[in-house]
Amino acid sequence: MPQDEIVRSERRGAAAVLTLNRPKALNALDVDTLEALGEAIDAVADTPARALVLTGEGRAFAAGADIAAMGQMSPGEAERFSRLGHATFEALEALEIPTLAAVNGFALGGGCELACACDWIYASGAARFGQPEVGLGLIPGFGGTSRLLRRVGIAWAKELVLTGEPIPADVALRIGLANRVFEPEALLPAALEAAESVAKRGPLAVAAAKRVMQEGQGADVRTAHALEQHAFGLVFASRDRDEGIAAFLEKRDPDFDGV
Ligand code: CAA
Repeated sequence: MPQDEIVRSERRGAAAVLTLNRPKALNALDVDTLEALGEAIDAVADTPARALVLTGEGRAFAAGADIAAMGQMSPGEAERFSRLGHATFEALEALEIPTLAAVNGFALGGGCELACACDWIYASGAARFGQPEVGLGLIPGFGGTSRLLRRVGIAWAKELVLTGEPIPADVALRIGLANRVFEPEALLPAALEAAESVAKRGPLAVAAAKRVMQEGQGADVRTAHALEQHAFGLVFASRDRDEGIAAFLEKRDPDFDGV
């Protein structure tokens, strides 16, 4: 299948929407899918989209790394496969614009890890999250031992990774893995609405706030505070700051131009 069919890319209002499109394999992530996703992410970075929404075609977001493909891998090939997954998800994480996973169904193994590489997760009530790798004699390979842990805390990450048991959307909501849960047909509209909210804000401020939170999360608290102070000062050099404050004082909507 051509790369632009493996991962469909479209513009919906302010959002770039990427859809994993191998529904017969429940959007399992093989090398071709990861490469197609990487190319689609790079392409989004070159567009004026204000947010990225990532979802899956059919009844899965992604049911994990491709198990059939992994059956043939040597340890060296498996390590390279893990590196490819990490590089792809790091590119997603590095986008300046907010990224939102709209988890429409199974998000298992690499699929759950992909959702965790997005800034936040909206889920359909039909979603199921999990890290079932230990049931295959494997461990998570695309960030399940790091990003998932940072998102839900070590105890829930250990329960998910060490039992391999999936959780439904309501539990994902309760543990902070999903921010909100919607009826299936309301999921994409809700994600697009969040993108439109982002699009009303100052683009430079959104990018700076995202960067500071991202970099601050891995740093000690004093460094995180210093990063914030520096970025706070930097946005004062923007025309968007002038426009945002003037619009508030003049009781009108701001018209940001991102400079
Ligand atoms: N890799 C490859 N193919 C997959 C797949 C995967 N991860 N998950 C599902 N499929 C395929 C099935 O083989 C099946 O294909 P055929 O129709 O050709 O037989 C098709 O998708 C539909 O799947 P099922 O018939 O199994 O559908 P189901 O409704 O009975 O079950 C499911 C759904 C519970 C998600 C089940 O498919 C399942 O358990 N999938 C595997 C989930 C998993 O273990 N993921 C972790 C992979 S390891 C990993 O991700 C490592 C890492 O961190 C990098």
